[in-house]
Amino acid sequence: MVMDKRMPLMVGNWKMNGSLSANATLVADLLQGMAGVTCRTAVCVPSLYLSQMQGLLAGSAIDLGAQDVSAHASGAYTGEVSSDMLRDFAVRYCIVGHSERRQYHGESDAMVATKVQRVLAQGMTPIVCVGETMAEREAGQTEAVVKRQLAAVIHANGHCISEIAVAYEPVWAVGTGLTASPEQAQQVHAILRAQLRAATAHADRVSILYGGSMNAANAANLLAQADVDGGLIGGASLKAPDFLSMLKTASR
Ligand code: 13P
Repeated sequence: MVMDKRMPLMVGNWKMNGSLSANATLVADLLQGMAGVTCRTAVCVPSLYLSQMQGLLAGSAIDLGAQDVSAHASGAYTGEVSSDMLRDFAVRYCIVGHSERRQYHGESDAMVATKVQRVLAQGMTPIVCVGETMAEREAGQTEAVVKRQLAAVIHANGHCISEIAVAYEPVWAVGTGLTASPEQAQQVHAILRAQLRAATAHADRVSILYGGSMNAANAANLLAQADVDGGLIGGASLKAPDFLSMLKTASR
């Protein structure tokens, strides 16, 4: 990595995968292979496993992350998990507004912006996901869509905006095996960076991750782009050799 880039941040999003025994095996394999990894690393695990993972990752170079948070502080919200609760388990990162939440759980830009506030208020880093569908890309709406999604978060969070991380995850690339080309990714990342620059003097501090079928084979070319500061990795983060290979690529 060239010196002037932000320290790369590589985040595994386990989604709804894992079990007590599978998690223990995966983490043991990861921790065994971390020698030489200098990038920032985190895994975002299902809420039920935060306690287990807090124990397994304590004192290690891998930070703990969550996949979602409630927009509410506390109270009668059956099934939800609050930002205070995440904080109790030493959670450092929280994915907010993943396309699977927007798509299957109807999360609006406004709700995502509120969730980001909750995460920031607890001193954790929200990883704010933005991205267009294939239909939106084909209609030439990519820029408008990602800017609208990020604008809601900027509007609600003011000067704290430099404390977020952003993940550009084109919906058509998530879990499909289709990846944005390095040029396509850089183009959108540059748009997001410019939007952040207009909102804060510290936009260069914000890590903008790429997500969507990132794997051991394509990571190097994506990470070589000027505004690609790391990855948000789904499927490939569940395989220790693949994830470790990507961590090493990001550590170069
Ligand atoms: P895949 O890497 O499985 O495409 O998932 C990407 C993603 O959604 C990470 O949040």
